[in-house]
Formats: sequence, structure tokens, C-alpha cells
Amino acid sequence: MSVAEYPEGSSFNPGDWQTLARFWHAVARSEDIDEERPWGTRLLDVNLVLYRVDGRLTAARDFCPHRGTRLSLGKLKSERLICPYHGLEFDGRGVCTRIPGDPRATKIPPRFSNRSNRCACRSSAVSGILPRTCSRWPTASTGRRSA
Ligand code: FES
Repeated sequence: MSVAEYPEGSSFNPGDWQTLARFWHAVARSEDIDEERPWGTRLLDVNLVLYRVDGRLTAARDFCPHRGTRLSLGKLKSERLICPYHGLEFDGRGVCTRIPGDPRATKIPPRFSNRSNRCACRSSAVSGILPRTCSRWPTASTGRRSA
């Protein structure tokens, strides 16, 4: 399921959800998203993880593509988001860059990446981070923290 798919069991009716999912929604303050730990939140009944690595702000579905663990319970280390269960590592684009259980893997299967679930993120100069749920994925901005 991508972020833009209507979540099963949603409290919204499908039409309202599809309409609301086309708009930007503030889900956190920029200063709350640091490079120390991931941040879990929920938008339109979809769990999201927000994190900042390599200066890039990322919003992705809060769901590890390996076994479904909430990535917001993981940690940030060496510019990677690390899943708390088996330790898959994701970069700022949601791409899986390392599988600790298979350290010799030269090619990581795309199914281990959260890429297709990635949202575009923008940080507002004042207070907002606005992950956008949409049917196609625009190019993500760097989402750098404003001063
Ligand atoms: S559930 Fe995330 S690495 Fe296995």
C-alpha cells in the first residue's frame, strides 16, 4: 500500500479521503523533526514516519517493507533510518541501503525500499512540515530546516 491508497478500516468515507488526500496537511513542527530520532504521526488514518537524514526531510509510510514493524520506533544513525526489528537501513529517499542479516548482498531487492511510499516534504519557514498525499509522487524537496 502506498501512502496515497485509501487505508482499510479508515474512519473517513472513501470520497472524502480521496479529496482530502490531494491537499497538503501540516503534521509536525519543523523543529520537532531532528536528526536524533524518527517521528511517528498519523494523517488521514495513515501512519507516517518523518525523519531527517543527510539534511533531507522524509515522510514515508510508518511500515517496514520487510515485516511491517513501525519504523518510527527505530533510530537514526550515520544518516540512516534503522528499523528496530532486523535493522534494515534506509536513506533519506526511503531506499534500503543495508540488510544486516545479509551483509554481502551486492544488490538489495527494490521490495525492501520504502521509495514508492515516499511523500514529498516541504518545511515551512514558520512551523509546518507538509507531507502531501497524492496519486503520483512529485520530486521531493530537500526539506532543509529553516533558521
Ligand atoms: S521488520 Fe524491519 S527489518 Fe525486519
